[in-house]
Amino acid sequence: MRIFSGIQPTGAKHLGNYAGGFRQYATTQDQGEAFFCIVDLHSISVEYDPADLRERTLDLLAILIATGLDPERSTIFAQSHVTAHTEANWLLATVTSFGELRRMTQFKDKADAQQFVSAALFTYPVLQAGDILLYQTDIVPVGVDQRQHVELTRNVAERFNSRFGETFTLPRAVYPETGAKVMDLQEPEKKMSTTGGTEQGTVLMLDSPDVIRKKFKTAVTDSGREIVHASDKPGVSNLIEIMTVATGDSIDEVQARYAGEGYGTLKTDVAEAVVSLLQPFQDRFRELRSDPGELQRTLARGAEKAREASAPTIAAMFDRMGFVGRR
Ligand code: TRP
Repeated sequence: MRIFSGIQPTGAKHLGNYAGGFRQYATTQDQGEAFFCIVDLHSISVEYDPADLRERTLDLLAILIATGLDPERSTIFAQSHVTAHTEANWLLATVTSFGELRRMTQFKDKADAQQFVSAALFTYPVLQAGDILLYQTDIVPVGVDQRQHVELTRNVAERFNSRFGETFTLPRAVYPETGAKVMDLQEPEKKMSTTGGTEQGTVLMLDSPDVIRKKFKTAVTDSGREIVHASDKPGVSNLIEIMTVATGDSIDEVQARYAGEGYGTLKTDVAEAVVSLLQPFQDRFRELRSDPGELQRTLARGAEKAREASAPTIAAMFDRMGFVGRR
């Protein structure tokens, strides 16, 4: 079974990314032949800084390895290193309709946040479809926000297959089953996010222990005093969810453990649980990040594997679309 996921190198990674993404990847790689693509080409579809992109790309590779991905077992690579991705983007754009792209809600949301709305932001889902289809992917582990993009990928694949002959496996999205939703500590009605949330309410995976403690200490809680997971208690529910992420305990277990305790105790304990969760990760991250040369060699090896895996698909695409052989 082929598994493919893409992760953007921009934006500081936070606890929500850990719960809904990084935590899953390490277990995913045991289920089949896994490809993890650092989608640097996607990241330039909005305003960005080139020096920052370079640093963040190496950061993300170190984060992926430090959270448990094994570059020997999985293929971890940068999208820009495998030219088949940009080629597939153009070819697939011819079997994607303007109307389909115009319906993408992520485009509408992201476009609203930009002064300059690039054409690349609009065609972003075509590049993503190519990422997935080039590897004959069966399963795409993503957040629910990517549902529409994976649906589009299936439609594009079906259209290509019926027009030019069976070429692509139809991929299926899989969403994190634990369902832990990590919300902003200051505004617990909002998802934790470096773009949409508050700074004080967003716990970064690379925050120091003291910063983490401070953020939890100032987390908003709710009226009443009972520690229960309930819809009218978004703040406390969020702290409980974060505790389950950090310790692996269930919501019921956490509730039972804190029966009769106050909000203050819960906040302190969640902070310590998160510090303990992140400490070994941060140590490993720093060790890896101190050797950028080795990280680049790891990416080069990943790119080689990815080129080999995608070569038959891109060749078949050109061939079936009627291009004269290139060799
Ligand atoms: N669009 C995805 C996101 O924002 C990132 C992505 C790019 C991706 N290509 C992909 C995810 C291919 C899964 C498969 O999260």
